[in-house]
Amino acid sequence: MIEGSNKLQGEVTISGAKNSALAILPATILAGSACTLKNLPAIKDGVYLRDMLIQMGAKIHISGTDRIEIDSTGIHTHKIDIEIAQKMRASYYFLGALLGRFKKAEVPFPGGCEIGVRPIDLHLKGLEALGAKIKISHGIIKAKADELIGAPIYLDVVSVGATINIMLAACMAKGITVIENAAKEPYIVDTANFLNALGANIKGAGTDVIKIKGVEALGGCEHSIIPDQMEAGTYMVAAAATKGDILIKNIIPTHLESVSAKLREMGVEVTEYEDSLRVRSVGKAKAVNIKTMPYPGFPTDMQQPMSVLLAVSEGTGIVTESIFESRFKYLDELKRMGANIKVEGRVAIIEGVHKLTGASVYATDLRAGAAMVVAGLAAEGKTLISNVNYIDRGYERLEEKLINLGAKVRRLEEE
Ligand code: UD1
Repeated sequence: MIEGSNKLQGEVTISGAKNSALAILPATILAGSACTLKNLPAIKDGVYLRDMLIQMGAKIHISGTDRIEIDSTGIHTHKIDIEIAQKMRASYYFLGALLGRFKKAEVPFPGGCEIGVRPIDLHLKGLEALGAKIKISHGIIKAKADELIGAPIYLDVVSVGATINIMLAACMAKGITVIENAAKEPYIVDTANFLNALGANIKGAGTDVIKIKGVEALGGCEHSIIPDQMEAGTYMVAAAATKGDILIKNIIPTHLESVSAKLREMGVEVTEYEDSLRVRSVGKAKAVNIKTMPYPGFPTDMQQPMSVLLAVSEGTGIVTESIFESRFKYLDELKRMGANIKVEGRVAIIEGVHKLTGASVYATDLRAGAAMVVAGLAAEGKTLISNVNYIDRGYERLEEKLINLGAKVRRLEEE
């Protein structure tokens, strides 16, 4: 329950990146010994992955709030828990990690947010190119290889998941793997840094050509997960939508350049410091056009919160979603709050209104949930958001952080 129309003010500290954590947790399997992870975000998807690792024989020791030791020595199976795996997207990383360590893996088709078809054909093609034989039966992907051999792999579509999965499987393959048209997201660099700290030989992460020279074995390491650019971006947009003024700490400002640039274009003041950003509203934001693109373009994950800001901006903005086919479902919820929006295929035309009004809305997926929170904060009156468990999958202590910024937010335990 959010009581809106309060300007966000003060400081917020950003947690570790969800999408890095969700790749690095399964990647600890490859270490075959103990790894210490710092800045791990306390989010539900991370808990699911930890539960899966424990079930498989890993030993996990949590010390402090965001420090965890994972010892994967005792992992004794190449199969993962089907029920938990189907709750989330990132369970697909067990394919690359288990294949890399045991030369076999059994993983169900992943779940996750319903924002489009979300095939995993590129993951499977990449693993096949490394020598894996893949069979699919009853919704389970079974991958097996006598040995993995490095190969050139061209991705038809820029894919975060496929790039990381291939990197995982290729670390201990014989010879050299070259991924062309690789994704360049900061999560890919972070995962490559983690794997290199384990002893892998990966070069070029963060560019569109990644070269992986297979090594015999990997070991343990200590690694600190990068800050979450989407969590930071959400607070940036929330500050602008509530006409607030906040300092966002523990971030890497270059990861947020596309969001900062759009906000500045809208007339919002964004000041970058070494590891923080100040976002200050100086009057009503002006509408802009947005097209989602792979990194370093404008991120699809920020499309939803940003559309809320457009809904209360001056003028008309056009949003083009070019990554996922159906990432506009939440706009119907936003219309309940008085937004003026027309959707035509992958394009949304958003005409700014004077103000949104609180209503009862539904979080249709993770970032849509975040968008509803931004809308609730900006709206006049009370907004009741249901299905908030989606938001918990990717935002750590959301209501606590918002309350610290002066928002009136309350979790109603039983929905
Ligand atoms: C990851 C992120 C998600 C983010 C998305 C895009 C995780 C756990 N999730 O999702 O938060 O929104 O990147 O930045 O890190 N595609 C194919 N075949 C494939 C794989 C992907 O056609 O085998 C297509 C997808 O349908 C989509 C595009 O490629 O159109 C990009 O998807 P991808 O980058 O793979 O997204 P995810 O890894 O699912």
